[in-house]
Amino acid sequence: ENSLRALADEAGIKVGVAVNTDLLAGNGKYRNIVNTQFSSVTAENVMKWETLEPAQRVYNWAPAEALIANAEANGQVVRGHTLVWHNQLPTWLTSGNFSPAELRSLLENHVKTVAAHFAGRIQQWDVVNEIFNDDGTFRQTIFSQAYAALGLSAEQYIGDVFRWAHEADPSALLFYNDYNLEFTGPKSNAAYAFVQKLLAAGVPIQGVGFQGHLDTQYGFPDLQNNLQRFADLGLQVALTEVDIRTFVTQKNNGTYTDTPADPAEGAQQVDWWAGTLEACLAVEACTSYTVWGVSDANSWIPGFFTGQGAGLLFDMHNNPKPQCDALREVLRNA
Ligand code: G3I
Repeated sequence: ENSLRALADEAGIKVGVAVNTDLLAGNGKYRNIVNTQFSSVTAENVMKWETLEPAQRVYNWAPAEALIANAEANGQVVRGHTLVWHNQLPTWLTSGNFSPAELRSLLENHVKTVAAHFAGRIQQWDVVNEIFNDDGTFRQTIFSQAYAALGLSAEQYIGDVFRWAHEADPSALLFYNDYNLEFTGPKSNAAYAFVQKLLAAGVPIQGVGFQGHLDTQYGFPDLQNNLQRFADLGLQVALTEVDIRTFVTQKNNGTYTDTPADPAEGAQQVDWWAGTLEACLAVEACTSYTVWGVSDANSWIPGFFTGQGAGLLFDMHNNPKPQCDALREVLRNA
């Protein structure tokens, strides 16, 4: 068998994909790729707070349930994404004028309710997402500010969240997930120091997720070194959201294609895909490698980075790109 997931099974790792549940339900070609090529799935959006609790105490579990049911029917594990993040929060929460003590208690209720709801069905949870800025400072959010106002530290805040998640779902592996940890620098150094403090304090953290949103204009990171130093702390590591974007050509009507504007960078993209997977395979504690979407037609990239795209493994028509062959080749050689 030559599918990504069959080759990944032989190599001893999970190969995952972020899934859009509307496309999973409505597009047969998309669904077929998800189910035949991947052994792990992550909800691209439907396990985020704004989707799960659109109005206070009104829960919307159905989209996430559909995703998990499909995964179980296809022998896939599920990465939970994400319990605590500063984006995609419900408006009732962000504009509710809650006091710091109320925010802490709303956070506790959210983490415990969601982790308990999915308990036993999640292999790895992204418990906290994107808690550091690129300069290595701790990110200010409504939650960090509430804790500060209560006289509590960043470690106490993050420690609380991991303890609540662990209490509600003791079998899930609990991850801190972030971007730009791939590169050695202020951010990954700060995260590395912070995670050691959590471990020293006995916080139940089991893994660190490296999102892996790369861009050909910034150079390839010293990824393996960074994965290894976190693994050396006794943690699992994972690539959780890989995509590799570049500038793409435009049509006459101004819409973007998924053709790299610079063919040399297009070739580099293919090498970088291989490089990210090789880095994971070289680190024993890295057994989960997830890509952030199926095809260039439904990637988040063009909506966030003007003029960029072509970041994924399948093209606008859900046909495999050379990137896909590159990953298979790496797995065959593993
Ligand atoms: O659901 C609404 C829809 O009703 C509306 O018509 C439409 C119009 O814009 O928007 C839809 O919401 C969009 C949502 O995705 C669901 O499709 C939001 O606008 C859009 O901003 C949102 O983007 C998501 C983004 O997170 C939000 O921050 C992307 O799909 C998702 O891929 C992206 O994922 C994040 C990870 O969670 C964390 N790491 C970075 C990664 C990329 O940003």
